[in-house]
Amino acid sequence: MKSNLKIRNVCCIGAGYVGGPTMAVFADKCPNIKFVVVDKNKDRINGWNSENAKSLPVFEPGLEKIIRKTRGENLFFTSDLQQSISNADMVFISVNTPTKEKGLGAGQASDIKWVEVSAREIAKNAKGFTIVVEKSTMPVRTAETIKDILSAAEINSYKTKSFSVLSNPEFLAEGTAINDLENPDRVLIGGDDKDSIDLLSSLYANWVNPEKIIKTNLWSSELSKLAANAFLAQRISSINSIGALCELTGANISEVAHAIGADTRIGNKFLNAGPGFGGSCFRKDLLNLAYLSRHFGLPEVANYWESVIDLNNWQRDRISKVVVEKLFGTVSGKVISIFGFSFKANTNDTRDSPSIKVVQDLLEEGALLYIHDPKVTASQIEEVLKIKQNCFTDKDFIQKTENAYWQYSKSVRESLINSDAAIFLTDWEDYKNIDWNSLSKLMRVPAWIFDCRAILSRESIVEAKLNYWRLGDGSNI
Ligand code: UDX
Ligand code: UDX
Repeated sequence: MKSNLKIRNVCCIGAGYVGGPTMAVFADKCPNIKFVVVDKNKDRINGWNSENAKSLPVFEPGLEKIIRKTRGENLFFTSDLQQSISNADMVFISVNTPTKEKGLGAGQASDIKWVEVSAREIAKNAKGFTIVVEKSTMPVRTAETIKDILSAAEINSYKTKSFSVLSNPEFLAEGTAINDLENPDRVLIGGDDKDSIDLLSSLYANWVNPEKIIKTNLWSSELSKLAANAFLAQRISSINSIGALCELTGANISEVAHAIGADTRIGNKFLNAGPGFGGSCFRKDLLNLAYLSRHFGLPEVANYWESVIDLNNWQRDRISKVVVEKLFGTVSGKVISIFGFSFKANTNDTRDSPSIKVVQDLLEEGALLYIHDPKVTASQIEEVLKIKQNCFTDKDFIQKTENAYWQYSKSVRESLINSDAAIFLTDWEDYKNIDWNSLSKLMRVPAWIFDCRAILSRESIVEAKLNYWRLGDGSNI
């Protein structure tokens, strides 16, 4: 490549949870570079261009402020893929890479068809020298596929086009994406062309300490991303497995987590027991890691990582079982409030949320559910559950039907009216300071509170004469 190249125009394919916030922060930190985020989904693009903050497709603390500052200045959202690629010196691929639903590797391998489509569009429309950056999480050696497609275009264009491929995985967690982008633990750049690596690195150097920029070969970078998510997920299954044991032995998982986390070799982060991990990444990346391990002839390694998912499934399944057992063995016709539908706090993302399984199980058992979430909308829940919400205040009507019933609720107070139980599944701040003394009177006694995130005050709930169950806490056995 030409070592005098300067990056002036950047294109990002995919305006999703990763592409949108990542490019917004880049635009904020690199005011002299133009960033164009392109997506085939026109509604998404309209959302990003909307003046109404509520229409932004992604909710992230701090995002709206950056969008207001940069949009129309050096950050643009469009559906014009061809033009955006032609103008770009650097193209990020941030399209989704979901688990394959059919064909070879179905249910395990990641589907990289959108990555391939993106590579073909880049091959066709790029001009001169272009740096292509994998931002999406990819199976190891995906860059090989991208390189093959781009090399064919190089040859066909009689070398008027040329490319360099880098891997630069995202490490942003939803809900803290802006902070993770602005203050990353590390930035990882993998590639085999030093000049290209340095160019991408120079963009980050506008706000990231160069010591935090790790440079590796392509395959180490791709694998590190999968491995990092697998390690994080494994920690959650580990703490959840110990939590289950706490409930039976009189131990308390918060105390155990504190005690083991004080060992600096273990560290105190990511040790909160809960209803199991969700989100778009952990399950997908574990499945992919297991698939790759098996593909490369390492079945023991594959089994090891699969067991992390098995434990997570088990954890989700056992929550509704505990609820049914505590409510005298049946929840049929009982009103239960579900608090939290997003997979974690501070996001409106419901992908692979543990709440989905708990809700499905309880509907299956015949419960009537109020579902509350500070950011997830009723239509999102309808879409995920594939069941329209009903108003179930007419109890006579309900007795005559076999349908599953759930109703969206706008407030904690509204949810608790006539509820036999409340299950807290997402760690939203809004749930931490509920006035149990006054709200407990709205519930039908004997009522139960199930705290699956250890965020509620046992004292105030017990004082309000409600029964309290906390995940991972055996102190009351
Ligand atoms: C990301 C990563 O890309 C994925 O690998 C990671 O593991 C999880 O996070 P994310 O940004 O969350 O994906 O996905 P999503 O919000 O679905 O956004 C992807 C966007 O790409 C969508 O808006 C989709 O319309 C767009 N897209 C997809 C294109 O513009 N073109 C395509 O060909 C395919
Ligand atoms: C994750 C990675 O953290 C991030 O680096 C990567 O780029 C994308 O995947 P994300 O899925 O957004 O981010 O959220 P994360 O904070 O990692 O939480 C994942 C799940 O684990 C959530 O359901 C969360 O509630 C759960 N979790 C997390 C716990 O149950 N306990 C914990 O201690 C931490």
